[in-house]
Order: sequence, then structure tokens, then C-alpha cells
Amino acid sequence: EKIAVLKSLRETGLVPVLRAESVDKALALAEAIAAGGVNVLEVTMTVPGAIQVMRTLAQKRPDILIGAGTVLDAETARMCILEGAQFVVSPALNLGTIEMCHRYSIAVLPGALTPTEIVTAWQAGADVVKVFPASAMGGAKYLTALKGPLPQVEMIPTGGVSLATAAEFLAAGAFALGVGSDLVNAKAMAEGKPEVVTDSAKKYLAIVKEFRAKKI
Ligand code: 3PG
Repeated sequence: EKIAVLKSLRETGLVPVLRAESVDKALALAEAIAAGGVNVLEVTMTVPGAIQVMRTLAQKRPDILIGAGTVLDAETARMCILEGAQFVVSPALNLGTIEMCHRYSIAVLPGALTPTEIVTAWQAGADVVKVFPASAMGGAKYLTALKGPLPQVEMIPTGGVSLATAAEFLAAGAFALGVGSDLVNAKAMAEGKPEVVTDSAKKYLAIVKEFRAKKI
């Protein structure tokens, strides 16, 4: 199960980071992203009613792999797992969260930034390390620098990833891309243009597909 989840994350190559001001707005964004063919979604705990969003999506869209994001502690991780989260993401490293996810055999993606943090997360049993905030640290070049001594560590660069930089991050060895505001576009939704989000989702998938095809 956990292996299948990780495989699916890698195949999709994209983890949309869902942030929104309400349950309804989050669900509308989720639909717009899914309409673009993306079958993975990270529902962050900063969304008011995040648990309800996860529950609703788990019921209505069993085809979407739902993860919990911005999980800062073990208690929150447990709650999300019991609500059906299939992977757990955090912007930071919290060892209790990793232990809790292991207890339930759920994929865990803690955040880390420096080599020491990244190795600490990996040795504590992170399945993939979310390298955050990746763009602020130099973007794809920073990932390439990390992957030199740490080729075995799977990394998901997140923070400031855009359509313009997606291919560079993949070329630098990203396991998948964590994408927030550039894809999860609240402004487009507020303007009644969910198709902008759907179109962006399609573009991200096309970039991943093209990159993976070239690699084979
Ligand atoms: C987040 O925590 O919201 C993510 O890191 C996404 O960041 P982004 O909006 O810069 O892509």
C-alpha cells in the first residue's frame, strides 16, 4: 500500500499543495486540479475545515490520492491518517510525526532544508524529503548540489516552483514537484475561472510526462 502510494506520487510527479480560505473553496480548487488529470492532492492543515475537505474528497473522489499537509506534530498526523490521509507532508522535521506515520505504515514526507536536516530526516525514516523552501535557496541548482553527495535521498522541492522552473527541478533529480500558489490559483477561482487552474494542472503533467519520456 505505502509502496503503491510512493509509486503513484513519483509517476504523477506532482504534489499540488492545497491552501484555501474555506472548505468550499478548497473543494472547488480540488475539482479544478483533478479536472486537469492530476490524481494527487495535499490538503494542508491551514485550510479551515481541512479534515472535512479530506473526508469529502475521500468519499467523492476515491480516484484521488489524498495527503495531509502542514502536519506539524504526531497527534495531527494520527488524526489525518484516521480520516484517510494516504501520505503526510510537513514543512519541517518532527521526529514524532515520522514515528506515528511508521506505526500506521503511511508514507511520510517531512520538510528539511540543509544537508544536515535532510540526512537527519532520511535516517529517521522519511520516505521522501520535502526540500522547502527550495526556490528561496537557489532553486534547481540547490537541488543538484544536494543530490551530488545524497543521490539516494528522494526529494520533493517545494516553495516557489512554477511552470517556468518545473523542468529544471526534474532534471536536477526531483522525485516529484511540490506546487502551491502557481497551480493552486485562488485568484483565478475568485474570478470564476477554474479552467485556468485546470489548464495549469495539464501543463504541469505534460512537463513531467515529457521529462520522464526523455529519460527512458
Ligand atoms: C506551501 O507550503 O504552501 C508550499 O510550500 C507551496 O509553496 P508555493 O506556493 O511557493 O508553491
